[in-house]
Amino acid sequence: MQLCHQNTQITKLINDWRVQEKTVAFVPTMGGLHQGHLSLIEIAKQKADKVVVSIFVNPTQFGKNEDLDSYPRTLNVDLAVLESNVDAVFIPNVKQIYPNGISKHIDVGKIGRILCGKTRPHFFNGVAQVVEILFGIVRPNVAVFGQKDYQQLLVIKQMVKNLSLNICIESGEIIREKNNLAISTRNQYLSENEVKIATNLYKILYYIKCEILQNKKIDVLKKLAEFDLKQYFKLDYLEVLDANTLRQITDNTHQIIILSAVFLGSVRLIDNIIFKKG
Ligand code: PAJ
Repeated sequence: MQLCHQNTQITKLINDWRVQEKTVAFVPTMGGLHQGHLSLIEIAKQKADKVVVSIFVNPTQFGKNEDLDSYPRTLNVDLAVLESNVDAVFIPNVKQIYPNGISKHIDVGKIGRILCGKTRPHFFNGVAQVVEILFGIVRPNVAVFGQKDYQQLLVIKQMVKNLSLNICIESGEIIREKNNLAISTRNQYLSENEVKIATNLYKILYYIKCEILQNKKIDVLKKLAEFDLKQYFKLDYLEVLDANTLRQITDNTHQIIILSAVFLGSVRLIDNIIFKKG
């Protein structure tokens, strides 16, 4: 496994692979690696000859009062997990990624302003910005993202389309704990008791799915579920939408997505369930 701290190092490595006609799959992360990240690496391995993982806690996707400074940085553990599992790890610093200083002046449009983008207006612009820069450096054939961050996945897909990038975007299913809590680096912030409370998020989303499949009215279900969620959490949003467009369900909808974001204390949890319309 090659460690690259400089853009020039990763560029050279990838150029060498290109000469050897190797294809490259890329998994961008912010570190604090867990089974969710590893599942994406497994997909990446199946899609290309070489796998590159980046670890970069991207300042432009954090808001002023968010956890940029305290975000779990576990580089040594991460590298031990990646060793013998991937071909290269790219660990740039802020200067490598933003040589002209940090600027947040980009706009991914409407898809970045709904759902998570309402509460975190800076977030998707920052994500798209850093992923575009990383794509420019790594120039992968394939990049793999998790469905846990479903809106992020759609933002990236749209960006790739808008910029006509020749990169195939693959996605991996949500990896969950045994108790069905979606695994997240930020779950480390939860106490044992909060973990127990957090498991109610998936249970409530799953209940909505079962009831929709029983042809229950979505509006009514949403109201009931919002009430349930508020017993445990501060509700950010709960939506039942068309999974392809993140717009309201229509007769043309093939797949439904139930998405929610909630606060448990200061920790924000997101989760979703995607399923075929019955
Ligand atoms: P990070 O939170 O580290 O996540 C990296 C990738 O892992 C994302 O594609 C995310 O959707 C995926 N992931 C996280 N938890 C998962 C789970 N439980 N199951 C499956 N996949 C999971 O997302 C980011 O970093 C950043 O926004 C990034 C794209 C790297 C840009 O900075």
